[in-house]
Amino acid sequence: MATERTFSIIKPDATNRNLTGKINAMIEEAGLRIVGQRRIQMTDAQAKKFYEVHAERPFYGELVEFMTSAPVVVQVLEGENAVAKYREVMGATNPEDAAPGTIRKEVALSIGENSVHGSDSQENAKLEIGQFFTEADIVG
Ligand code: CMP
Repeated sequence: MATERTFSIIKPDATNRNLTGKINAMIEEAGLRIVGQRRIQMTDAQAKKFYEVHAERPFYGELVEFMTSAPVVVQVLEGENAVAKYREVMGATNPEDAAPGTIRKEVALSIGENSVHGSDSQENAKLEIGQFFTEADIVG
């Protein structure tokens, strides 16, 4: 197994409810190391670019509006098989389908307000990390 990095966002529904620490504890308990982290107010341009793969989906406008509605915490997570591991820790996109003990089952509100984002592949992880971090911001 290889040490990898993945990109994570703690979304506005979670920062609004002061859940950053609880989510970080779940991440760390799963053996993932938070090697980069910054709290930001995402701009409209950043959110549109980040989710441009969903630009044609009916929920795109709502998604961009939500992601810019309050601060988010952008993170770089590192560990063995970090991409797949974090997807396991997050649980299914829709909290109704998420397994017990996952972040989305424990704290998410709905498919839109689903508390966290995680990269779906190593290739996307590199692109997503690059949108928000330089190597100098990441200390492993
Ligand atoms: P995320 O992993 O950040 O990637 C795309 C996001 O789109 C996803 O999490 C959901 O929060 C959001 N999303 C997916 N389907 C819907 C939907 N039907 N309505 C609103 N948001 C959605």
